[in-house]
Amino acid sequence: MTDGSSSRAESAAAQPSRLACAPVICCGSRPSKGGSLTLPCPAKLNVFLEVLSRRSDGYHELDTVMLRTQFCDMLTMEDRSDGQLRLRFSEATPEHLRHGVPLDDRNLILRAAEALRRRAGIEFGADLILHKQIPPESGLAGGSSNAATALRGLRQLWNLDVTDETLHEIAASLGSDLNFLLSGARAAVCTSRGEVVRPVPIQGPMFFAAVRPGQGNGTGAVFRGVEFSSPRRNSSEVVACLANGDHRKLAACCFNRLALPAQSMNEEMADLMSALERIFRRPVFMSGSGSTVFLLCESRVAAMSDLRQMEVRLRRKGWLLEV
Ligand code: C5P
Repeated sequence: MTDGSSSRAESAAAQPSRLACAPVICCGSRPSKGGSLTLPCPAKLNVFLEVLSRRSDGYHELDTVMLRTQFCDMLTMEDRSDGQLRLRFSEATPEHLRHGVPLDDRNLILRAAEALRRRAGIEFGADLILHKQIPPESGLAGGSSNAATALRGLRQLWNLDVTDETLHEIAASLGSDLNFLLSGARAAVCTSRGEVVRPVPIQGPMFFAAVRPGQGNGTGAVFRGVEFSSPRRNSSEVVACLANGDHRKLAACCFNRLALPAQSMNEEMADLMSALERIFRRPVFMSGSGSTVFLLCESRVAAMSDLRQMEVRLRRKGWLLEV
């Protein structure tokens, strides 16, 4: 079965990497006073992640398959006439999701906005209101997605004559996951340090039951814990399963090289993965550097049932991820 969004991904697949951005109107003139827009910042899920080598710049060469999910933060961008950039949480953002998310220039949203202004040679301002739902340090790229949306949204709000390629260059300078989220692809193989995006076709809707332990994982520390002794895998089998809609086989070839080092650093996550395996008798995977872990599910109903079981048997509230 193929839905509307998969044909979008397939048409994106025909485009060169890094260039597939959602279209916006660019006329280069000052926006009308009081302009505002709200856009989603979708979470990504890694269904495959192999670490190929350590690079001299401290990063790692990757072969990873990322999926764009429906689970998202929302970012509202409002024009400001005084040239300032101000970031705040929406009133509805839960208290526990605010911890560990700075609102100053350490936040990727403000760094993205500043980099865009520099590149465009403008000093326009904006109020940025973040409605957070994606937990930080969860391997779902919430912060990167916020920044990717800020780049796309502010270009539109400020009517900037900035190409998709330039947005992708800025994105790559800010982190490794932004380019996939900026591309708008539903599924992609991401290589280099993650910023080179090759959209791939994906059949049918996919459902995951995801859950996170209390403690998050620091990405840098998890990467430093990788051991390179075993032979490397590649993403081709996972890509074929996505293209064929063979979700059963997919469960047999999902893989994440970062799972072992993450488990040894986060005992709570390791225990959660073991408990899930015991209860569901199915493989349990980790997204990115964790600490979100997930099960593949055959349908939305099956995923909701898994989530209910997690709540009853583990007293943990997970969430549905849909691709
Ligand atoms: O790119 P990003 O800022 O999200 O990466 C966070 C950290 O994760 C990096 O500072 C680096 O330590 C590690 N990382 C890596 N190799 C990658 C991506 C991230 O070592 N390909």
